[in-house]
Amino acid sequence: MFPIQRDRRLRTTEAIRAIMRETTLTPNDFMFPMFIAEGKNVQIEIPSMPGIYRRSVDLTVKEVKELWSLGIKAINIYVKVSDNLKDNTGKEAWNPNGLMQQAIKAIKDAVPGMIVMPDVALDPYSIYGHDGIVESGAIINDATVDALTRMSVSHADAGADFVAPSDMMDGRVLAIRKALEESGHHNVGIMSYSAKYASSFYGPFRDALDSAPKSSGVPVPKDKKTYQMDYANRIEAIKEALHDVEEGADIIMVKPGLAYLDIVREVKNAVNVPVSVFHVSGEYAMVKAAAEKGWLDHDKIMIEQLHCIKRAGANLISTYFAKEAAIVLNK
Ligand code: PBG
Repeated sequence: MFPIQRDRRLRTTEAIRAIMRETTLTPNDFMFPMFIAEGKNVQIEIPSMPGIYRRSVDLTVKEVKELWSLGIKAINIYVKVSDNLKDNTGKEAWNPNGLMQQAIKAIKDAVPGMIVMPDVALDPYSIYGHDGIVESGAIINDATVDALTRMSVSHADAGADFVAPSDMMDGRVLAIRKALEESGHHNVGIMSYSAKYASSFYGPFRDALDSAPKSSGVPVPKDKKTYQMDYANRIEAIKEALHDVEEGADIIMVKPGLAYLDIVREVKNAVNVPVSVFHVSGEYAMVKAAAEKGWLDHDKIMIEQLHCIKRAGANLISTYFAKEAAIVLNK
């Protein structure tokens, strides 16, 4: 007897494998997360994220030009502002001349085609390192949503193409959509971090922005578990995603990436909008550390991971590997 199904037939040669590939990867799949610093000519490498820098606006613009030439068409931006600009209201977040607003303007002036997606959440501006306003030891939802709408409109005024709320407050997508419409920003989209888990994979990111939750005399929640989701849960992710779509999100996001690819697929099957995935800082750090020790082949692991995220259902991947992966893919 011979095997009835010779599945290996479709893997025989490089050419057969090439025509049988179900997913492909190009720089169009990526968004590149970038950290902005105050000052001029500043470039500081994040210790837990080798190859990733916090750069002042002038050097960020230089880098964005290079990203554009490599075929990367979208960036997510995050700012680190000095402590004296932080308070509990986060009001620096909608300062029309704030660091984020300056960065958006400078990038859009220099590379108008680049799709700029600023992060919308209060943590870089919060003295407590929380994504929302703290009152009596709790993160208060509706006042935070008001702040996020102001922040979003100010990003749109500065020239953002999409705003990207990463805060996980309830009702923020609808409130932001309404505020954008009322301020004439009909074409500014919303990429909502819909299924965002309370994850220890964000450690290096919080190092980069010095944004980890901190206590300071008054009672403050020590973690983000009252707004970010429990990693044991699945149904909740679908519910969050459907709510954000209903509220007007153009793109939704699942975050983190690799350990959550089951969620990516389920969310993808449940919604009719593009799904993005954040391949987060801790995932990046793990690959860098293992590669540094010579335990893994850096480029092969990087491309394999990105491919697997796409296969799981990602239409877009926010990844710190975007630049390096584009260089490998362009070869
Ligand atoms: C904060 C924010 C975080 C990340 C993106 N936006 C950290 C957090 O929620 O504490 C994490 C990204 C990463 O780890 O790469 N609103």
